[in-house]
Amino acid sequence: MHYFQYRNSELYCEDLPVRAIAEQVGTPLYLYSRATLVRHFDAFDGGFGDVDHLTCFAVKACSNIGILNIFAGMGGGADIVSGGELFRALKAGVAPDRIVYSGVGKTAAEMREALEAGILLFNVESSQELDRLQQVAAELGVQAPVALRVNPDVDPKTHAYISTGLARNKFGIPVDAAFDEYLRARTMANIEIRGVSCHIGSQLTRVEPFLEALRKLKVFVGRLREEGIEIQYLDLGGGVGITYNDEEPPHPHEYARAIREELGGLTCTLILEPGRVIVGNAGILVTEVQYTKVNSGGARKKRFVIVDAAMNDLSRPSLYGAFHEILPVVRSRADNLLVDVVGPICETGDFMARDRMLPAVHQGDLLAIMSSGAYGFTMSSNYNSRPRPAEVLVTGREFSVIRRREQYRDLIRGEQIPGQEQS
Ligand code: LLP
Repeated sequence: MHYFQYRNSELYCEDLPVRAIAEQVGTPLYLYSRATLVRHFDAFDGGFGDVDHLTCFAVKACSNIGILNIFAGMGGGADIVSGGELFRALKAGVAPDRIVYSGVGKTAAEMREALEAGILLFNVESSQELDRLQQVAAELGVQAPVALRVNPDVDPKTHAYISTGLARNKFGIPVDAAFDEYLRARTMANIEIRGVSCHIGSQLTRVEPFLEALRKLKVFVGRLREEGIEIQYLDLGGGVGITYNDEEPPHPHEYARAIREELGGLTCTLILEPGRVIVGNAGILVTEVQYTKVNSGGARKKRFVIVDAAMNDLSRPSLYGAFHEILPVVRSRADNLLVDVVGPICETGDFMARDRMLPAVHQGDLLAIMSSGAYGFTMSSNYNSRPRPAEVLVTGREFSVIRRREQYRDLIRGEQIPGQEQS
């Protein structure tokens, strides 16, 4: 459930017409609904009820500090994968002892920053990473809190690019090797073993792969405990999917119930790293139609709607062939036409939708690209020297710009012509 609804013929975000915001802020524009963010966080976190747990929002899904701050205010933590995300999370007010750090390529500098901040957990993904962390922690004279990320070899049945829990993926350490790494970690003076972690993939639409991974982890935790290795935290990662089109992912409560049941009597603090399920349907990308045109592609006429948003603003359609529903911001009675909705970038791969039935639109009309809250702005770039869009947060009848639209001077920030002063 989200708070983007039509009232009469106008699309609203909570109590504000999307059109009115676009008129003031311009397009393209990312628009988020606070009530939806809060509702989704509550639904997810609340599903685990009285189970000892911590919901660490996956910052990569939507990293604006104005949004991270909402989750921090609700007691949420953060799942980070870089020094930049650590910086954001701290700026947003996330408590350091609620931050978990995942990722296969942490640099020594990033480890240092996270150790100095006092984060809850490093999810370590290789033997070499463990060695480096030991060394950095020793230099600082501190203990590094660690979980090893286990690769459970489970098929999440999702897009190949976002599947992470298969043996052939680059993530984590295979179960048997992980056992040996725990034995090694135990002997390291500056490593404090706290938990076990895993993350099997993203946009999962079934609970079974999660349960399969959890079953394997339970056995693994049992083995470690028999060995006298204390495991306090079990981090199950993120991955719960959302409805973009006709997917039927589990409701967060259903996911939580299944996990709770499978946990059985396992005594651990559960850590969860949801991203998409919280923010995905809480954000849209608003774009304006620039031109419409018809090219005759052989026997078939091909209709194009050219909008002012492009693959640099929302890359999911180009990158994964992802489906995003597109709605007119003001509904009309126009007949449906089969169109490609495309951006201004000089690549055929620059599309928001292909072969989509949409009511006929005209220059100046606004369209809403739905479900763009997750991996939308965070994956945007300046390709074709396009300033990135503004981000706006709506709360009831109010809105705030939480990231101003980039200007041309932002495009060359930090660049320099040799011998001249920096721009
Ligand atoms: N934890 C870890 C360690 C992760 O790698 C990820 C996502 C998450 C949590 C959050 O997963 P979520 O709950 O959002 O599924 N750009 C792609 C998605 C990449 C996901 C990467 N890892 C997309 O647009 O679909």
